[in-house]
Amino acid sequence: MEKILVLDFGGQYNQLIARRVRDHRVFAEILPYTTDLDTIRKNKYKGIIFTGGPNSVFDMSSPHYTREILDLGVPVLGICYGCQLIAWMENGTVSTAPVSEYGKIELTAKKSPLFENIPEKSIVWMSHTDYISSVPENYEITAFTPDCPCAAMQNTKKNIYAVQFHPEVTHSQFGDQILYNFLYSVCGCKGDWVMDSFIDSTVEKLKNQIGDKNVILGLSGGVDSSVAAALLSKAVGKQLTCVFVDQGLMRKNEGDFVEKTFTSLFDMNFVRVNCGEHFLSKLKGVTDPEEKRKIIGTEFFNVFWNEIRKQNDKGFFAQGTIYPDCIESGKGDAAVIKTHHNRVNTPEDVEFLGIIEPLADLFKDEVRRVGEKLGIPRELVWRQPFPGPGLGVRIIGEITEEKIRLLQDADFVLRDEMARNGYERNMSQFFCVLPDVKTVGVMGDHRTYENLIIIRAVTTDDFMTADWARIPYDILAKVSNRITNECKGINRVVYDITSKPPATVEYE
Ligand code: XMP
Repeated sequence: MEKILVLDFGGQYNQLIARRVRDHRVFAEILPYTTDLDTIRKNKYKGIIFTGGPNSVFDMSSPHYTREILDLGVPVLGICYGCQLIAWMENGTVSTAPVSEYGKIELTAKKSPLFENIPEKSIVWMSHTDYISSVPENYEITAFTPDCPCAAMQNTKKNIYAVQFHPEVTHSQFGDQILYNFLYSVCGCKGDWVMDSFIDSTVEKLKNQIGDKNVILGLSGGVDSSVAAALLSKAVGKQLTCVFVDQGLMRKNEGDFVEKTFTSLFDMNFVRVNCGEHFLSKLKGVTDPEEKRKIIGTEFFNVFWNEIRKQNDKGFFAQGTIYPDCIESGKGDAAVIKTHHNRVNTPEDVEFLGIIEPLADLFKDEVRRVGEKLGIPRELVWRQPFPGPGLGVRIIGEITEEKIRLLQDADFVLRDEMARNGYERNMSQFFCVLPDVKTVGVMGDHRTYENLIIIRAVTTDDFMTADWARIPYDILAKVSNRITNECKGINRVVYDITSKPPATVEYE
């Protein structure tokens, strides 16, 4: 398989670069700048991309790389810091720019393999305070902006290209074409990274690895573990056992839906552990958000590992770990590694032949595409993010059976109405919250004193920041009407109009 290396110097867009490359059907992997040259040489990459980064190359404590990497005969593209790094490695001069560029800037491009099919003038996304003040020998400037005399440079003999701007962000008008040109014209890629071949080769690999042994997977009903389950089922069928812990804090009918999907569409052993009552007893009287989260997390793993012990199967243990969970960060020390938050630690008394992570090379959007191809229902594949502690963090105060029912019912109405109006996949996340609040209302001639429901809906690209979603008034009116009519015990509905920050998406 053709591979592109994204060598990470700590830039905020490093994952985006790899995703854009893969969108062009070429596999890309991200490694930190601390990766040694031998490893890079052995991997036989078709091309190498140096990412951006927050440092100044002329500061000796900044991340650097041995200049031999430029002599491997492998095409290189430097982006932003990566561009300056090439200039620095090749004895050009990088200095603080008299004018920092930030945002959309007009670029004037000259003839270059990198700029094929791109107009002379176009808009690019810039974000830099240093610039190349003197270009290395044997390099020619191929683009400039009003404040950046070297916005791109190249050495076509060595196949080394560098751009000061960010082609990977959508604000760069022809960024996608520039990456395409690098991959196909400069590196000579053919484009063999397609999901069908990923499925075929992964199934083959899983068959060989697992042989006649068994494999156990913790299935949460989330996208990643569902797709891992479907892949494993295709590879080894009944040798796979999926353990699904239903802690009673999922959305209405969700546990049944997960069970029905995997027992009817896929060949596997499916074990559902219903432990809603156990969780309720552990959560009785608990109101502190962090304590609730801690109890739900701890109990989940207690129940899960007890079930695994019961299965007493010394086969393999599979997880739905995906690529962003595995990437080592290029920031700071080599020792800094991104927390593998989706990876589960196995208890000492439970032994396995090994851990299997069939999705460890995929980004989320690729996982979804694989899921669709494997026939997982769209409701599961395109599921919105759902917190691990489930509705537990959407019920403020103590969690009771009655409150779970109320929230599930109201949330069901919201989702139903949004789906009817085509918003199911077109809004990042929406859900209901049950605060510990009752208010006075009137129904017929009677005073009521019932629960309040909050609707929370956000639009966001990355969930780090989010804006409150502008759901049309007509839909909100319908949702409010239906909730107060159909959900006994609720007499008022309010809409949350806070962005993140200062609020968070969830309430606890
Ligand atoms: P916050 O509330 O931090 O949420 O703004 C950002 C995104 O993360 C989801 N979220 C979680 N996901 N386990 C998860 O897997 C959790 O404990 C958790 N808490 C929040 C939240 O739904 C939103 O999409």
